[in-house]
Amino acid sequence: MMRAYLVTVALCALAFSLANASDPAPLQDFCVALKAKDYSDSAVFVNGKFCKDPEQAKADDFFFKGLNKPGNTDNRVRSNVTTVNVDQIPGLNTLGISLARIDFAPYGLNPPHTHPRATEILVVLEGTLYVGFVTSNTDNRLFTKVLNKGDVFVFPIGLIHFQFNVGKTNAIAIAALSSQNAGVITIADAVFGSDPPINPDVLTKAFQLDKNVVEHLQKLF
Ligand SMILES: *[C@@H]1O[C@H](CO)[C@@H](O)[C@H](O)[C@H]1NC(C)=O
Repeated sequence: MMRAYLVTVALCALAFSLANASDPAPLQDFCVALKAKDYSDSAVFVNGKFCKDPEQAKADDFFFKGLNKPGNTDNRVRSNVTTVNVDQIPGLNTLGISLARIDFAPYGLNPPHTHPRATEILVVLEGTLYVGFVTSNTDNRLFTKVLNKGDVFVFPIGLIHFQFNVGKTNAIAIAALSSQNAGVITIADAVFGSDPPINPDVLTKAFQLDKNVVEHLQKLF
């Protein structure tokens, strides 16, 4: 009897931890992040950010201005992500949500990347995007779609995904993410641009590339 009870409790705990893969639920109305300069003990680190006294919270802690302004796409990939997360809006601390604006010049690319802590839901405001994600190693299935103005697409948590402007005009998208700090790992930058560099023999074998090509890519990133 006791054993069955313990097994049930253990299974419930497991099910809860599996269902609770995103940011933990808040235990109060809000926990506006304290600025680092407002507390002194830098030897203490927490998962997330310290809360300021709720009495001191104000509307501006939940406010951001300027997402109407395009990011500058004058760069190698011709795209720009403007992030609005807990670093821009301290009131997002513990709430498990954030936002981004993505601008694309014609043929601009948001290169293959993953968000380790968030699912992403994206809506196209202007232009035409070819988007997709790849499932994990069970089958590495590719899911793609061409999105036009008003179309919405979901990129599940952790999966590698991309957005490519296939139109001749600028494109704009807004993305919501299920974390106050989704994180981003751009695959090419992380693999070929790590600091210090990964031993080229590792990348030569992993990517089935000539070592010269690996070393060339490592210089580029
Ligand atoms: C994105 O745009 C902002 C604002 O124009 C700019 O400061 C930033 O350098 C741009 N980032 C990249 C990667 O081009």
